[in-house]
Amino acid sequence: TGVPVICIDGPTASGKGTVAAKVAQALGYHLLDSGSIYRATGLAARQAGLAIGAEHAEAIADLARTMALRFDAGRVLLAGVDVSDAIRTEQAGMDASLVSALPQVRTAVVALQLGFRTLPGLVADGRDMGTVIFPAAPLKVYLTASAACRAERRRQQLLARGINAKIADLRADLEARDARDMNRSVAPLKSAQDALLLDNSELTIEQAVAQVLAWWQQRQ
Ligand code: C5P
Repeated sequence: TGVPVICIDGPTASGKGTVAAKVAQALGYHLLDSGSIYRATGLAARQAGLAIGAEHAEAIADLARTMALRFDAGRVLLAGVDVSDAIRTEQAGMDASLVSALPQVRTAVVALQLGFRTLPGLVADGRDMGTVIFPAAPLKVYLTASAACRAERRRQQLLARGINAKIADLRADLEARDARDMNRSVAPLKSAQDALLLDNSELTIEQAVAQVLAWWQQRQ
């Protein structure tokens, strides 16, 4: 298509969201936070009173296809309501992981994701950006960090919002979510064959961003 795409995939709380946003900002590219689509779908299912499971897969996929989801200046709007905070809770993350394991839901949100690929370019973060959605992307990064690091970062993020969570609980939650994301039958979380691995356990956000930008430079 001639539109450059940088994919940043990896497990929960690996720093993908922050790194992707900063890389997009540095390059003046669009940003696709694909996880927020699954989070919003989970929220829409709850609001509709649908239990999140295979028995409601078609109904939830319909919701995903028809929900009025808008991204506006860093905020996420569902049917005109700002749900940016509501979709960021731990519960919303688990719900997202459950809806995202339903093949019908994944199919329903493909077109929405492809629509983000517009000039001058796109940075896409998620689990399957490089493996499924943008397989021809010229740069794919698989961003990881140790489970201990990721749990600690999540704890800090929550603390910043005034929520005091136990590190052991957070780690158990994120490991459960990763296990489901890696073991599902459709679009499981895994590194694309041609992805570059970046472990940022010992890196600052700025260092991780600089590495991705350096790889992008080399591609030009
Ligand atoms: O990245 P984030 O934590 O917001 O994603 C929430 C959940 O959505 C993930 O745990 C995963 O199950 C799902 N997801 C996915 N594919 C993506 C992005 C997110 O399955 N591309």
